[in-house]
Amino acid sequence: MTQFNKETVYQNARKWVEEAGEIIRTEIDQPRKIDTKMNPNDLVTEMDRKIEEFFADKIRQTYPSDLILSEEGFGDQVNELKGTVWIIDPIDGTMNFVHQKRTFAISLAVFHEGVGEIGFVYDVMADILYHAKRGEGTYKNEQKLVPIAKEKNLSEAILLLNPLWCAPNDRADHEKVAELVKTVRGARSYGSAALEFAYLAEGITDVYVSFHLQPWDYAAGVILYHEVGGQTVKATGEDLTFLKQEPTVAGHPDLIAEVIQNYISLK
Ligand code: IPD
Ligand code: CA
Ligand code: CA
Ligand code: CA
Repeated sequence: MTQFNKETVYQNARKWVEEAGEIIRTEIDQPRKIDTKMNPNDLVTEMDRKIEEFFADKIRQTYPSDLILSEEGFGDQVNELKGTVWIIDPIDGTMNFVHQKRTFAISLAVFHEGVGEIGFVYDVMADILYHAKRGEGTYKNEQKLVPIAKEKNLSEAILLLNPLWCAPNDRADHEKVAELVKTVRGARSYGSAALEFAYLAEGITDVYVSFHLQPWDYAAGVILYHEVGGQTVKATGEDLTFLKQEPTVAGHPDLIAEVIQNYISLK
């Protein structure tokens, strides 16, 4: 077991998240160098890389034996959640960052010996920091969030979903997903999985479905959500590994069971 002082790690991480947010806000109107990754809609900018490098440098200087699992290549090869692992998305919602200059987040989670201990989702432009320490609740800035509603039916629920999953795809039966969209009260897509998890934790949305999230998209959000009674699992119902891309469902445990049973058929 490695030494882990949760409060000190939380304070350092919080400072770095706030500093990184300040860098992004200061430079938000500067011309962007935009590259694409897997496809023409998969964007990355010099800011994504700069912010990830900022975190990697701080973590390596302060906690040289910790590992980093992150999106843009400054992290480590992480095959298991042993010791302390930082799971980081420097900008979650890069498309929003590029096109809208808002509704993107820094997502940072700290796992120790396989357990999610600390989570931050920072809505940079709105200056809203969602944060949690395991066992101590989730906060939206200084406001403690209340446990999520238990009694909600799907017919009263707000679903978070990328509309692409209602079109034919190689991951899941899109017609079943479209049925889910028709069943719920409304569907929303904000373009940042991390913020969408924060909105689940806040209780302003109720169910989340995605078939290709990476650990850095949701690791911090899962910690926020867990603290208010929310659950996040693989779309098979199994536990997430936080190590690779996995189809993901989040919601109140009762809603999750109904969604998986009636509306998800993985290919
Ligand atoms: C993306 C966002 C988006 C989700 C995608 C992610 P990125 O992250 O979280 O909401 O639908 O699956 O890749 O690339 O902007 O960090
Ligand atoms: Ca990306
Ligand atoms: Ca992301
Ligand atoms: Ca990202």
